[in-house]
Amino acid sequence: MTFNVAAIREQFPILKREVDGNPLVYLDNAASTQKPQCVIDALVDYYTRCNSNVHRGAHRLADEATKEFEAARDIVKNFINAPNREEVIWTSGTTESLNIIAHGLRETLSSDDEVIVTEMEHHANIVTWQEACRFAGATLKVVPVSDQGELDLDVFETLLSPKTKLVAFPHVSNVLGTVNPVKWLTQKAKEVGALVSIDGAQGVAHGGVDVQDIGCDFYSFSGHKIYAPMGIGVMWGKKDVLETWPVWQTGGEMISTVTLEKATWNTLPYRFEAGTPNVGDAIALGAAIKWFSEFDLKEVQAHERQLIAHATKCAEAFEGLTIIGNAKDKVGAISFVLDCGHPADIGFLLDRQGFAIRTGDHCAQPLMSRFDVPGTARVSFSIYNTLEEVDAFFNALKKVRMMLA
Ligand SMILES: Cc1ncc(COP(=O)(O)O)c(C=O)c1O
Repeated sequence: MTFNVAAIREQFPILKREVDGNPLVYLDNAASTQKPQCVIDALVDYYTRCNSNVHRGAHRLADEATKEFEAARDIVKNFINAPNREEVIWTSGTTESLNIIAHGLRETLSSDDEVIVTEMEHHANIVTWQEACRFAGATLKVVPVSDQGELDLDVFETLLSPKTKLVAFPHVSNVLGTVNPVKWLTQKAKEVGALVSIDGAQGVAHGGVDVQDIGCDFYSFSGHKIYAPMGIGVMWGKKDVLETWPVWQTGGEMISTVTLEKATWNTLPYRFEAGTPNVGDAIALGAAIKWFSEFDLKEVQAHERQLIAHATKCAEAFEGLTIIGNAKDKVGAISFVLDCGHPADIGFLLDRQGFAIRTGDHCAQPLMSRFDVPGTARVSFSIYNTLEEVDAFFNALKKVRMMLA
């Protein structure tokens, strides 16, 4: 598909709405992206044509639903270049994916073991590992973040040792926009024999994820951050690791045989998919990825980098504004504070002008402490945002500044 922002915007019905008589300017994409009509249609189509439980039905609807559900798994497999389709596990989102991994890990940890995370984690990628370490009496180590908002790679190397059982880090920070050197981090972790789990919640929407090239063991993401509905996500894990991992939830679908005394487990991926899955949303996630994959990724990435470069330039020139996080490689989001008001007030006053941004701690309280701020205002961009919206945002922010000063 040719890359044309105006044509892309036409495909997102919600972008036509107004807020208090102002055109909506949606700059909260790191929290959740909007959905193109084809994704909405895929969901409606599923519920109007073949809604049914999958895998076990003996009728036409179940057969069609199963085929589409499993076809969506293939779409995900190809999108992240996973070697095997059975390594793609449907979850409710990144949070559940990370919990499944941490739940598996804790069974294998001992009190001598260490897990490494970073100071830039979303709570979903820190509390999970805290709990796994607490369960096993293992130690959690943390890679610090520099003033620029980048991981301190020297410290990371010193933290690695044969005791390191797993290293967890985000592909892209949801607060700072920092793109981490995931391949390098993975290689270093592998040198000490550690497993690597990447939180891809923010990385996946910017495309180009190749789990084989990265060399990680797990990659997790949420559908709603990549133009798909909420309530569906993916945990990709290497087959040889997942096959040794304890099961997550138990019940139907994940078993092979059950007697009154015991059960045996199903093969991958079903072994981690207990109960009736979220069929409609999985199919819609397939539709979203198919839609996104039709664009030339280089053009999408060039557009997103242009947006962030322009927004950074405007932010740097803005009186009283401090950007939190100035990493060399950034995508998606800019966080900032103003000297004249609390982020919550900034968000409120922008909303009155039609601008949707996010304010607060962004589920990253340790990172807020690191930068000594109670919270930030965050603008985050997607494929459908324009340079004009960035300019309009900074004009609106000027008005906010006048109101607050
Ligand atoms: C970096 C990161 N990790 C994890 C999550 C959790 O994603 P979800 O709430 O979709 O499970 C988010 C959500 O904002 C995120 O940005």
